[in-house]
Amino acid sequence: MAMVWRIILLLHLGYSGAELYQRGINESYTEQEERLLSLLLRLQQEEYYDTLLVYGEECPFHSLSRSLEIPAVMVSLGGTNYDWNFGSLTLILSCGFSAEREENHRTLMKLQLNRRIIHLQKDINVESVCNYYAKKEQYNIAVVREDFKNSQVIYACRFFQDPNFAEISSSKRHPIYIENFQNMNKRPIKTMADVLAPRSMPYVDKNTGELKLMGYVANLISNFAQRLNATLQFEVLKNETNFQHILEKVRSDQLDLGITMHAALQKTPLDTASYPFMVTTYCLMLQIPAKLPYNKVYEMIVDPLVLGIILLLFCILSVLLIYGRNRSWQDLSLANVLLNDVSLRGLLGQSFPFPLNSNRHLKLVFIILCFASVLMTTMYDAYLQSFFTNPPSGPHVHTYKDLGRFNQKLAITAIEVKTLKNINNSHFHEVKQDDIVVFDDWQELIRLRDNFNLNYSFIVTGDRWSSYAEQQKIFQKPLFYLSNDLCFTRMAFFSIPLRRYLPYRHLFEDHILRQNEFGLVGYWQAHSFFDMVRLGITPLEDLSHPKPFEKSIIMEDVSRILQFYLAGMVMSILCFLLELAVAKWSSWRGKRM
Ligand SMILES: *[C@@H]1O[C@H](CO)[C@@H](O)[C@H](O)[C@H]1NC(C)=O
Ligand SMILES: *[C@@H]1O[C@H](CO)[C@@H](O)[C@H](O)[C@H]1NC(C)=O
Ligand SMILES: *[C@@H]1O[C@H](CO)[C@@H](O)[C@H](O)[C@H]1NC(C)=O
Ligand SMILES: *[C@@H]1O[C@H](CO)[C@@H](O)[C@H](O)[C@H]1NC(C)=O
Ligand SMILES: *[C@@H]1O[C@H](CO)[C@@H](O)[C@H](O)[C@H]1NC(C)=O
Repeated sequence: MAMVWRIILLLHLGYSGAELYQRGINESYTEQEERLLSLLLRLQQEEYYDTLLVYGEECPFHSLSRSLEIPAVMVSLGGTNYDWNFGSLTLILSCGFSAEREENHRTLMKLQLNRRIIHLQKDINVESVCNYYAKKEQYNIAVVREDFKNSQVIYACRFFQDPNFAEISSSKRHPIYIENFQNMNKRPIKTMADVLAPRSMPYVDKNTGELKLMGYVANLISNFAQRLNATLQFEVLKNETNFQHILEKVRSDQLDLGITMHAALQKTPLDTASYPFMVTTYCLMLQIPAKLPYNKVYEMIVDPLVLGIILLLFCILSVLLIYGRNRSWQDLSLANVLLNDVSLRGLLGQSFPFPLNSNRHLKLVFIILCFASVLMTTMYDAYLQSFFTNPPSGPHVHTYKDLGRFNQKLAITAIEVKTLKNINNSHFHEVKQDDIVVFDDWQELIRLRDNFNLNYSFIVTGDRWSSYAEQQKIFQKPLFYLSNDLCFTRMAFFSIPLRRYLPYRHLFEDHILRQNEFGLVGYWQAHSFFDMVRLGITPLEDLSHPKPFEKSIIMEDVSRILQFYLAGMVMSILCFLLELAVAKWSSWRGKRM
């Protein structure tokens, strides 16, 4: 391996560097070399670089690289098959037109934006050199010819100008390298949109008649094209095709950018993904449970714990009343405590006899009793009235197993199932297969979800949910809620697919950050529902199918409480009869004795 790739790593970091430099100068430097050295020194000062990468054999760069106190890597054969981690501050020196024959695509990607100086023979046309590098999508190119010592001209490629290079005199301090893509002179950026509302929505511009795109992903990319003075050339994904199609086209270099978002998962290649555009959740969108029927409201408001506390309070008050009356424990008995009519009537907010000659203790106990009664009766009254006006919802789904229990089917696309299985999502494994309905046609599922179909539960990303939430505000009652407990992931990183060797990747990533930082993305997202309505994608109507009038309370709804009442009455009558019977029996026994 070492024989094949004669890579000589010269790391003369610091050690007797000054001496080397001096000796280098004193040795046999030609005039050409001296000129080049001063060019390199100038570049080192102006456009700082920290590593040299020298391709090819036999040219002045080799001896010069030894004179600079900088690590230098010599690649004589023009290629390395090792995945070097060259930084962006590596300056590439090439001895000749095609000295650089790198084939490792990782290395090519890393070195794509690095600055290059090419040393050329006199007779080679600079224009064709620039074209050659443009084809390889390498753009920071400067060319020096063999006659540099006399002409002192540096040729710098300028890709969107005519001619495609500039002659720069080394004595003048013009910049050699510029950001070529700052102005693309209306060159096209090839894209394809998934037209998945609200990320990108097509519409016809009324003024120009052109087909345009709206939506928070579409806006991001059309703003980018505007910023680079490029034209956005977009196709629209056909109805019946899988949206993975865009990704495939980007991966096969047929598109520059995809107007779509793609979740960055463990196994997805990062070469074709931008910096994350959006971090969002990926959660279940579940039906809001039906309201409790009115006849359940009574049971609903009686909480066992609260009832227990009330009972305890009742007993304490009874004991205090018994003691307070005569300041003695004489009357204390279980029956007197549990069947204390003053305490009972007091707590239920009824009137009760207030002894005229009561002492201070007794008065205090009565005050406590009155307070407790006011609190309790108003509390239950408020509960009952508000629940009768607007009954509470039934139990919510809290675990994946509940889905089956509440008879909810989770609708999911075949693509998502495949992806979730691929990444071995642990939450997805918890969902029982019986509770899942897999849709091969993803557009069908989107349609069902957009229509708030109550036959299914859905999965939704946080960004899409925000527009559903907005839409539900116009409903008489919301139909779905976003589950807090059931999320396949809370951190889904969505990035924009882009071509592997996209030369303006850094500008695009900078653009993403700026648009997010400025709050534009959030603004577009907040407005997406209204944009959808404006474009006629979503109707501005109540999809909750409200009933013309709500059922009012009828006798049946309070039947249960009446049944309790009846049972109580029957029991008290029985007690009364029993008491009579016992009295009769004891008097009869008394007579016989
Ligand atoms: C290099 O040459 C200069 C004069 O041209 C001399 O002063 C210096 O000592 C020489 N250095 C070496 C290392 O020979
Ligand atoms: C954008 O490109 C066009 C076409 O080359 C050019 O005429 C125009 O000046 C450029 N705009 C800017 C702002 O550079
Ligand atoms: C595209 O989708 C619409 C429904 O949104 C359908 O009516 C139409 O037939 C589809 N077209 C094709 C070519 O599949
Ligand atoms: C999936 O995850 C489970 C545990 O969560 C692990 O036991 C299993 O080996 C994983 N399978 C794959 C293919 O990674
Ligand atoms: C739900 O499913 C049933 C039967 O599967 C069907 O009759 C009904 O129309 C569906 N409801 C909606 C809103 O699609």
